[in-house]
Amino acid sequence: GQPDTRTPTGAETGVPPVSHAQQGAFLTTAQGARLRDTDHSLKAGPRGPILLQDHHFREKITHFDHERIPERVVHARGAGAHGVFTSYGTAADLTRAGFLKHKGKETQVFVRFSTVLGSRGSADTVRDTRGFATKFYTDEGTFDLVGNNMPVFFIQDAIKFPDIIHAAKWHPDREIPQAQSAHDTFWDFVSLHTEAQHHTMWNMSDRGIPRSYRMMEGFGVHTFRLVNDAGETVLVKFHWKPKLGVHSQVWEETQLTGGVDPDYHRRDLYDSIEAGAYPEWELGLQVFPDTPEETFAGIDLLDPTKIVPEELAPVQPVGKLVLNRTPTNFHAEVEQVAFHLGNLVPGIDVTNDPLLQGRLFSYLDTQLTRLAGPNFHQIPINRPHAPVNDMLRDGFHQQAVHGGVAPYRPNSLDGGNPFEAGDKENAFLDVPVVVTEAPKVRDLPVSFKDHYTQVRLFWQSMSPIEKEHIIRAYTFELGKCYHQEIRERQLQCLANIDPVLCEQVATGLGLPVPAPTIELPQVTPSPALSQVGHQWPAD
Ligand code: HEM
Repeated sequence: GQPDTRTPTGAETGVPPVSHAQQGAFLTTAQGARLRDTDHSLKAGPRGPILLQDHHFREKITHFDHERIPERVVHARGAGAHGVFTSYGTAADLTRAGFLKHKGKETQVFVRFSTVLGSRGSADTVRDTRGFATKFYTDEGTFDLVGNNMPVFFIQDAIKFPDIIHAAKWHPDREIPQAQSAHDTFWDFVSLHTEAQHHTMWNMSDRGIPRSYRMMEGFGVHTFRLVNDAGETVLVKFHWKPKLGVHSQVWEETQLTGGVDPDYHRRDLYDSIEAGAYPEWELGLQVFPDTPEETFAGIDLLDPTKIVPEELAPVQPVGKLVLNRTPTNFHAEVEQVAFHLGNLVPGIDVTNDPLLQGRLFSYLDTQLTRLAGPNFHQIPINRPHAPVNDMLRDGFHQQAVHGGVAPYRPNSLDGGNPFEAGDKENAFLDVPVVVTEAPKVRDLPVSFKDHYTQVRLFWQSMSPIEKEHIIRAYTFELGKCYHQEIRERQLQCLANIDPVLCEQVATGLGLPVPAPTIELPQVTPSPALSQVGHQWPAD
């Protein structure tokens, strides 16, 4: 392929690179003209008005006026760090992705942790889901694993995403977040839209108030498809396991830390890295046979509101992540980083999970506005570390000075067609999954309709003190609703999950205990979920 011309070195074009230093014996304008004074504007006399002709004043103020970019529509509050991912080579049979296949292979990464609902300046410590997004700068292109610290999601279909976010973010009249004002819209949505009940209980559990980013698990949530060298496929779920274990704050602690230090989590992240106590996670896979049904142990693998208990499919460690470098510039790195589920590499493919499918559209789309145009992949933090030879041209903020005719294929004038003759074996190939002759419908599969079994499983896996925290969280949060019918409707959902949970919360709210509207199982097993059984290898 041709050399990557997107990082102008100046060598070919005579254009000097952008100056990063902001140092020197004298100041200049952005155009390089030497300045005599940057402290006083040009006026009509010492007491007169500022003259429009003061080009330095206008350049300085105009640039300042545009320093901010729009915050993310969700996950606006975040912090990020650089690190290294080292493969154990244990996934070599499962995937041809080189960064996982080769034992000892090191890959640079950038990770951004976030809350979901708050604005950029909100507190780190609120009860919320946390984002855990990782950019792997692999030799075969960039792979983004855009996950959360909870393994399930509120909705099964991406078309509901604007609804859940509208219901949960700040109120439009006061712009006070749900966490501190009326909670009616959030609880209205999740009690009407009962597939949200599983994720909601994870939020009400201690997982919703992590002690530190370093002590959170991460989950890819969806099921992905891996392809190996022989073209064989398996279905997998991605898990991050923190070396320090999973720890949470208690509610009273979050209130104190949130008040005293709203930057609690980002401070903890950066302080620990600067002290050399590098945060570590192990990447693991739950592996399932790639059957036409795309189910495992009766669980629909395309339903993002369901987990597969680790007792049924243990998490197999495939590599280790160490975060070892803080950002140099928060705006350039943490704010401008753009994650996207479509950033896939050969050996990793998507499934038909309808939430995943919608996300494949949404990220690139929102970033076109947030990062002002189609060339944000040229921003340093987003540049692939693999050689690039695309056919993209022009557009807002184009950094490359492309030579020659605009690329097109097929093309007989450029000395042949390297794409046609190219090494397809190393290329990304879409797995030719059979799409059935089913009619075009808006329905979801019947298997998506059970909204309570796994919530009950989660509840039953909790220890007594964790159960107490969950009861208190539901009682506190529902106590903030103005509308009694919403509290009652959510109590009805709890009655369908577990009678003890429902009775305790109802008592706390001073409301009658509703009867379940579904048949509850008499005796249900209570397997422990999540980190149980996971062993870190000795260093
Ligand atoms: C941002 C995770 C569902 C749209 C994010 C971020 C994470 C994340 C971690 C922050 C990325 C960063 O740090 O820059 C997830 C997970 C989901 C999910 C785990 C479900 C399993 C959805 C859905 C949609 C969506 C269904 C839309 C249909 C967005 C958008 C952003 C975002 C628009 C902002 C991206 C940006 O401005 O760069 N999500 N999300 N997400 N998510 Fe999701």
